[in-house]
Amino acid sequence: MSLTDPNAPVRPADQPARLDALEAAVRARSALVPVVGIVLGSGLGGLADDLDEAVAIPFAELPGWPAASAPGHVGRLLLGRLAGVPTVMLQGRLHIYEGNDAGLIVQPTLLFGRLGATIVVLTNAAGGVNPAFGPGTLMVIADHLNLTGRTPLNGPNADAIGPRFPDLTDAWDPDLRARLHAAGRAEDVSLEEGIYAGLLGPQYETPAEVRMLRGLGADAVGMSTVLECIAARWAGLRVCGVSLVTNLGAGYSGQPLTHEEVLASGAEAGPRLARVIHRFVADLASA
Ligand code: HPA
Repeated sequence: MSLTDPNAPVRPADQPARLDALEAAVRARSALVPVVGIVLGSGLGGLADDLDEAVAIPFAELPGWPAASAPGHVGRLLLGRLAGVPTVMLQGRLHIYEGNDAGLIVQPTLLFGRLGATIVVLTNAAGGVNPAFGPGTLMVIADHLNLTGRTPLNGPNADAIGPRFPDLTDAWDPDLRARLHAAGRAEDVSLEEGIYAGLLGPQYETPAEVRMLRGLGADAVGMSTVLECIAARWAGLRVCGVSLVTNLGAGYSGQPLTHEEVLASGAEAGPRLARVIHRFVADLASA
């Protein structure tokens, strides 16, 4: 087993030993036992500034993790307190389109659980497939379509972590979704709800693909999140998430899509989403 080759398959059965090494590396830096783990997507890294007493560990200092390569992704694991609640955050995530194996990109999520978190919040930037979801829309993820053609659960299972055939009914936890909506109301931030389609990327979709995705029931499309949800459910973690719609899906506006537009929309709407998640976490403490 190579710890460093991002292309080397990371099978479920490899995860316990890899998580042992990751846990030891984190515990050398912080004793914090998180309640919640949050993955910060493109343009959403600002929530990290709300973390008190934060310890930041660059990906490169965590065994087996490559440095994050996507522009707008910093690549650090952070442990600290958000609204007083022990929290671990991933600032920048690993993507398959960077050449990373599916089993590798879910390690941050599995590490959240290993460190003690029971709740995972996944955020991402996405294109609006529902024509009513324009730039700046925040969408609570109700369910997903995994259209990556990949799974992090390929290969011999690790029964110590989770079952061979995990159930994905209510993968996006109904109670946590209700809590996100309550946090949105409390912060006066409007939240939609819908289905997230996860594709491999890195190219944006064709207009025909966006129409296909709409026909399949998708409301938003992106290049992350679905495999992290699968791994989290495998490991028995509760999952919720929000997509920040940065642009209308390809073909709707007649304009080409650019990564700059995605980052600019993320910068505009990111602070609104940060407020919702901050409130969501604060209210977990009083649950
Ligand atoms: N498609 C896929 N991923 C995305 C998009 C998009 O339109 N916008 C932001 N991430």
